[in-house]
Amino acid sequence: MEFNHKPVLLEECIQGLNIKKDGIYVDGTLGGAGHSIEIAKRLSPKGMLIGIDRDTEALEVAKDRLKQYENVKLVYGNHDDIKDILEEEKIEKVDGILLDLGVSSYQLDEAKRGFSYITDAKLDMRMDLSRQVRCRNSSKYI
Ligand SMILES: C[S@@+](CC[C@H](N)C(=O)[O-])C[C@H]1O[C@@H](n2cnc3c(N)ncnc32)[C@H](O)[C@@H]1O
Repeated sequence: MEFNHKPVLLEECIQGLNIKKDGIYVDGTLGGAGHSIEIAKRLSPKGMLIGIDRDTEALEVAKDRLKQYENVKLVYGNHDDIKDILEEEKIEKVDGILLDLGVSSYQLDEAKRGFSYITDAKLDMRMDLSRQVRCRNSSKYI
């Protein structure tokens, strides 16, 4: 399955970030890098883009799509941990953060991810496939 996802409000997001070429930007929901590519394009070698996603399949796609940009750091993780992630990178402040919250079209389209009812697949809905499935109203993991 191809990773298809149309970046939402792309132009508006890029305008809103008001990108400085030497700035540091975080895309906390990297996905297929639709927004990140446009950010990376606008950065000088002194600038930096940190892309975070908790879906390893998205990270693999983004890695390939962003391979021509040197000043990009991709992180497998949760954007809730942004403070720790930036600390680890020794970054004290950033110039902009983008959060495109929700699921990507790929996660919906790919039957095995179990997000959609269109196909007859087992309900799963984990963004981070390394996590266990937890039963609702239970602390039990299956
Ligand atoms: C709507 S998609 C982003 C699409 C991306 N902006 C693009 O244009 O390709 C949302 C992405 O955020 C990721 N995501 C959702 N919640 C997250 C979280 N708490 N931490 C990190 N990534 C998360 C999902 O795995 C998904 O890849």
